[in-house]
Amino acid sequence: MPSHFTRVTFPGSFDPITNGHLDLIERGARIFDEVVVSVLRNPDKDPLFSLAERLEIIKEVTRGHSNVSVDTFDGLLVEHARRVGANTILRGIRAISDYEYELQMALMNRRLAPEVETVFMMPAQRYTFVSSRLVKEVFLLGGAIEDLVPAIVLDRLRSKIPVP
Ligand code: PNS
Repeated sequence: MPSHFTRVTFPGSFDPITNGHLDLIERGARIFDEVVVSVLRNPDKDPLFSLAERLEIIKEVTRGHSNVSVDTFDGLLVEHARRVGANTILRGIRAISDYEYELQMALMNRRLAPEVETVFMMPAQRYTFVSSRLVKEVFLLGGAIEDLVPAIVLDRLRSKIPVP
C-alpha cells in the first residue's frame, strides 16, 4: 500500500542558507505534503552562523510556506528522519560532481534505514554553482553575492563581517 502522506526532511548545515537551498525547499513544498528543514547542530567545521542564527534565518525565509518547518538534529540523519516521522530525505543535486557523494550517503542511509527513501531534485539552473562555502568566501573577499542569498543573509553577513 503506498503511503499517501509524505513528510520529507531536507537536511544540511545551512551555514548560511542560500537561494539554491530555498529554491529546493520551494520545489519540495510543492510536491510533498510537508518539508522539515533539518539543520545539523554541530557541523565538523566551525560554523560562521550559530545554530540560533541559522534557525532564525530559515524560519524567516520560509515563513510564507505553511507546510515547511524547521528542526535541528545531531547524530545520524536517519534517526532524525524516524524521530520526525519523515519517510523521505530530500537532497539537491547541482552537478554530476555532487552525485558521487550523494549516492554514497543515500546508499549508506538506505542500509541504516531501508524504509527511508532519498529523493534528489535539481535546483533552478541559475543556482547550480551556488554553495554556502563559496558564498561566504566571495563575500569575505568583497565580491557581490546579492542574487545568491536571501536579503536577510546578506544583512547578517554585513553586520557580522566588515567587508574590505
Ligand atoms: O550541508 P551539507 O554539508 O551538504 O549536509 C550534509 C549532511 C548534514 C546531510 C550530512 O553530513 C549528514 O547527514 N550528517 C549527519 C550524520 C550522518 O547521518 N551521517 C551518515 C550519512 S551517510
